[in-house]
Amino acid sequence: MKKRYYVLAAVILLVIVFWGIAGQRRGEGSAEEKKSIRIGVTLYRGDDSFINTIRGKIEEQAKEYEKETGIKVVMDIVDAKGNQNTQNSQVDRFISLGYDAICVNMVDRSMASNIISKAMDAGKPVVFFNREPVEEDMRRWEKLYYVGEDAKESAVLQGNILVEAYQKDPSSLDLNGDGKVSYVLLEGENSHQDSLIRTEWSIQTLKDGGVPLEKITGGIANWERSQASAWMEQWLAEYPEEIEVVICNNDDMALGAADALEREGLDRPVKIVGIDGTPQGLEGLKNGKIFGTVQCDSREYANVIFQIAAAEALGQEVGELVKLEREKYYECSQKTLTAQ
Ligand code: GAL
Repeated sequence: MKKRYYVLAAVILLVIVFWGIAGQRRGEGSAEEKKSIRIGVTLYRGDDSFINTIRGKIEEQAKEYEKETGIKVVMDIVDAKGNQNTQNSQVDRFISLGYDAICVNMVDRSMASNIISKAMDAGKPVVFFNREPVEEDMRRWEKLYYVGEDAKESAVLQGNILVEAYQKDPSSLDLNGDGKVSYVLLEGENSHQDSLIRTEWSIQTLKDGGVPLEKITGGIANWERSQASAWMEQWLAEYPEEIEVVICNNDDMALGAADALEREGLDRPVKIVGIDGTPQGLEGLKNGKIFGTVQCDSREYANVIFQIAAAEALGQEVGELVKLEREKYYECSQKTLTAQ
């Protein structure tokens, strides 16, 4: 009699165990059944114009996705305010809340390894964007992605805006007719992959395009309008007659340079070029403050960040939805915009 009970108990136990395993499998394979996903996004600085534009577009993407798929998207976007420790804690919180995917705009791009280790331990995919971790970090896991722009491409396009203007009419850049185009340079953060490459290739493109260049001076304005404006004010005081062109690594700094020119009330048509094509940049282009800019398609940029995160959250094959390079990189397309 006792033996029978044991057998029965063993059978019941087996059924429970198998049911449990099968249940788990059903759960694992339930990509299509999952009705909601949770994505955490942390920004290096929410007051950066370009990043703010991308943020708005990511939110739009989430809404469109909800409408199209019926899958609810819980999206938590936080601002690290330029502090890497704050950002690390934000990622810890995303992980402890069990978010399905994490999108990170690194404060310090050389410090990604800490975040990567935690995400790997928790099995949470990470989509980095705009501030590129070093390749060694990116190679650590197949669930790490990077979305950005090709900095050389931005720079070549920017340089070509000025090359074309010079070829059409040299005096549009060489304002004093001394046979040289005298420029000042406003650069982004020195630790940012985009700053160095944009500067190098913008100048190289002008040289390759046959523009006779002369550098007056340059400075690092960390992507910021106010810092750029302060530099420009100083340079206008030092070189009141010389500056003909202002080459800027982004639109905000181009607008800062324009602010200083406006304050000075200079009547020389100094040409200012930027990169980003932010709404503020486009406004500056429209009212003649900026001569040209290079715009990345921010909708495409945000769409790719979101698609990768959502696909990972649902356990879908990312490579089938987004065309990636080296299985983890995506570079957004860009175009030039000029005042004329
Ligand atoms: C650059 C962009 C800048 C600034 C920076 C922040 O790609 O051109 O305006 O947003 O990223 O990392």
